[in-house]
Amino acid sequence: MEHFLNEDSNSIREKVVILDFGGQYSMLIARRVREAGVFCELLPYDTPWDEIKRLAPAGIILSGSPASVNQEGAPRCDRAVYEGGIPVLGICYGMHLLAEELGGEVVRGTRSEFGRTSFEIVEREPLFNDDNFDDAGSCCAWMSHQDEVVKAPPGFHVLARTENNTLAAIGDHERKIYGLQFHPEVFHTPGGNNVLKRFLYDVCGCSWSWTPKSFVEDAMEKIRQVVGADDRVVCALSGGVDSSVVAFLLDRAISDRAVYIFVDHGLLRLDEAGQVVKLYREKLQGQFIHVNAKKVFLEALAGITDPEEKRRIIGSEFIKVFKEKALSMGDITYLAQGTIYPDVIESGSISGAAIIKSHHNVGGLPEELGFDLVEPLRELFKDEVRLVGAELGLPDTILKRQPFPGPGLAVRIVGDITAEKLSLLQKADYIFREELYNAGLNDEMWQYFAVLTDVKVVGVKGDDRHYGPVIALRAVVSEDAMTADWARLPYELLDKTSLRITGEIPEIARVVYDITSKPPGTIEWE
Ligand code: XMP
Repeated sequence: MEHFLNEDSNSIREKVVILDFGGQYSMLIARRVREAGVFCELLPYDTPWDEIKRLAPAGIILSGSPASVNQEGAPRCDRAVYEGGIPVLGICYGMHLLAEELGGEVVRGTRSEFGRTSFEIVEREPLFNDDNFDDAGSCCAWMSHQDEVVKAPPGFHVLARTENNTLAAIGDHERKIYGLQFHPEVFHTPGGNNVLKRFLYDVCGCSWSWTPKSFVEDAMEKIRQVVGADDRVVCALSGGVDSSVVAFLLDRAISDRAVYIFVDHGLLRLDEAGQVVKLYREKLQGQFIHVNAKKVFLEALAGITDPEEKRRIIGSEFIKVFKEKALSMGDITYLAQGTIYPDVIESGSISGAAIIKSHHNVGGLPEELGFDLVEPLRELFKDEVRLVGAELGLPDTILKRQPFPGPGLAVRIVGDITAEKLSLLQKADYIFREELYNAGLNDEMWQYFAVLTDVKVVGVKGDDRHYGPVIALRAVVSEDAMTADWARLPYELLDKTSLRITGEIPEIARVVYDITSKPPGTIEWE
């Protein structure tokens, strides 16, 4: 399998290379660099110098690492990195490494510094030369280290010290090599972004060039470089932001060789499939295929109540249907996927982490399909994908779509799934979403939806006893779905929604509102 963004790209723009030593903040560094308007490429720490040189970077950043430079087999980059005349910035482990390699001394500190630590600026040029640092030259930074540089290498100046006298920043102005003991990329380091910007603009001489527009241009060029004139690419569409952005990008680059397949599992929200099909049909130049597989999925799910089993079945049915369709299209070399950076981390090796729910989405088709991968969004965060999508002209209905699970409404119907239950849920969910949207609360929510419970209760409709299912409403606020708080919705909104659901859907006997936060609840009910 080939990873598209690792391809040598001969990019037209100046860029910075980040050598990743496995630190927890490596991707955050990349993000901050892009926020400063500079292109960057994250490469494994042991990338050979020839390969780095070929990218002609304006600067090289060495990331942090959980390792210690004094341990056996500590990860090291090619030594030529320090000798190539290209500015280098080492962050935490990166600083320890360059200090040690260039003749300084690194020891395990007697006092580990974790969290917020003050430091004093000794030399403002070039990294701390910013209004953000007060005149007294005293700052706060986020530290997370045990090792420290006790002796700077020959030629290096001390630029900053912590109150414990640890070297917080060192630099060799001649060779343009700098080291920071703290993490400028994290939010808790006020002014940290400015330190990075000074390195990028003043030391490396970079200028603002990363914009969604330039990303689109670069991504198109890379797609054209990778996908040959006779190659064809298939792209799995889900109706979500990521896969749609990939499709629109592909369409601009090589629409004549692109095939888009939307596997409609029938588990989307009311009218949703119709809307996305209309959009894709109208806007995409490449070949668009809509596979209506609702029946197949419902049959496969019949009688299944266990949530993980539902996910497994939907995942494998999806692959089956997609594969069959894709293979029937003739010669196809590449599979374009909307993998974004959080997917890369989540599917990575967070070893020992408990699997709460196995997530299925179209960002994760397996290698067995036999295609090479094209993943142009692999290094982007969600908000960056949205910016790129807006640049490509995608409508807000897609760009602002709330997160929606790959298995769709199947995990919002507690118990077994039938066409009737699906229809009830779609209607109730539509009413709730319409009311909340009309109340102007859409932008405040992370997700809001209805759940069809497997509880049946007694009620009274007209003069008759009524026995029917309970609909639960769920609305949460969250930053990242890792934790979530139930939304304090106005009673009037809940009242109107409840009246409409019980009134417009005769089968529903009762409506309840879920007031469980995450943890201990999860956002979805299953
Ligand atoms: P939970 O329920 O784990 O959800 O708190 C966290 C976020 O993940 C979404 N979610 C899924 N997304 N496939 C997906 O693609 C799944 O199986 C799945 N389960 C939950 C959920 O909607 C929320 O945004």
